[in-house]
Amino acid sequence: MTNQQPTYSPFDPEVIADPYPVYRDLRHNAPVYWSPDANSWVLSRYEDVSAALADPATYSSASGIFPTPPGVDMTELFLPMLIMTDPPRHTQLRHLVSKAFTPRRIVGLEPQIQTLVDDLLDQALNADTWDFVSGFAGPLPAIVIADMLGVPREDRDRFRTWSTTLIQSNPTRGEFGAGLDAAAALYDYFKTFLEERRAHPQDDLMTALVHAEVDGQHLSEDELLGFCLLLLVAGHETTTNLLSNSAVVLAQHPESRRQLADNPELIPAAVEELLRYDSPVQGLARTLTRQADLHEQRMNAGDTVLLLFGSANRDDRAFPDPDYFNIHRAPERQVAFGRGIHFCLGAALARLEARIALEALLARRRDWDVDHDSAVRLRSGPIRGYASLLVQ
Ligand code: HEM
Repeated sequence: MTNQQPTYSPFDPEVIADPYPVYRDLRHNAPVYWSPDANSWVLSRYEDVSAALADPATYSSASGIFPTPPGVDMTELFLPMLIMTDPPRHTQLRHLVSKAFTPRRIVGLEPQIQTLVDDLLDQALNADTWDFVSGFAGPLPAIVIADMLGVPREDRDRFRTWSTTLIQSNPTRGEFGAGLDAAAALYDYFKTFLEERRAHPQDDLMTALVHAEVDGQHLSEDELLGFCLLLLVAGHETTTNLLSNSAVVLAQHPESRRQLADNPELIPAAVEELLRYDSPVQGLARTLTRQADLHEQRMNAGDTVLLLFGSANRDDRAFPDPDYFNIHRAPERQVAFGRGIHFCLGAALARLEARIALEALLARRRDWDVDHDSAVRLRSGPIRGYASLLVQ
């Protein structure tokens, strides 16, 4: 380890290919690092990331959660979203949406998810080579959210095209491209839908959201639309990436894969280790509401701070031998779903999807190879995963 100042940019192709060496360097040599490319301070140690997440009064989400280039304000581009609010508004909104997005509703999805996983694998495994992303990891969470909201089957393809276009835009570079058009199309679609659900309630999440009430308060129309869009953005690509990263990590660790195929009851703990070892959301940003001094570095009010969950999860102060993938580790403190007031609302759903997907995959295919030469990485900085991943 050198004592030189590290160089880190979340957009550097080498970092995108493997961020873990530079994270180690940041944690050791520059725990509060200014990244000109990200226009942000960068916190990389477990303790610092956790402390920032626990202090929303200082580390605010209200100006957006991606480091964006100067002059780009994500909060002006989209309707208000839970994930980009601070207390007290966040507390009220979270309370309201939690009335509809309940653990019971999620547990009830298990049979549907199982059928969907089996159908997708039936199609995919008939071919010699399959693209794990477009043939499995991509459609699974998109269809689950669409079904959960109550999107009719005949609209599924349209809905998936919009949602894929939206999540493939690149906010960290200020490149929204067709993403904004897709968001507008989704808002229009949801608007019609919400009207319909208001008039004709169904047993779906959309209806539950329309009727969610706390102390006589309901979600406004903009809040409903914003939340539906957030579910897509927050719940689609993240789960896709967890599954794709898992396919790669398990192919790189055949002994662990064999143990999981022989002992499927180990899969839930392995999912936690997969989340820790190669986190789908490597980092999200906050904006300082006041000056903060950390490790003898002054950060000013208004500065953006990128919190590197992916680095915190590899910090040896929190996880012994952190670069060792160990399915028996049970890393309860991992922060792949964040922590504190914004802790992932869909964590239970993501865990359920990942467990069912890995159980079914390992039951049918005990081994697979990944074609690393043709694999295409996502290039959206703090989001870690693949756009394409051929598996045979
Ligand atoms: C492996 C999959 C997933 C990962 C790694 C993940 C990660 C995260 C993280 C790190 C946060 C915290 C954001 C912050 O602190 O600013 C978050 C929040 C959130 N997630 Fe997830 N997520 C996943 C799946 C899902 C799913 C499936 C859904 C819903 C369908 C979902 C819905 C949300 C929502 C609504 C929030 C905002 C909560 C709030 O602001 O109070 N996520 N997620």
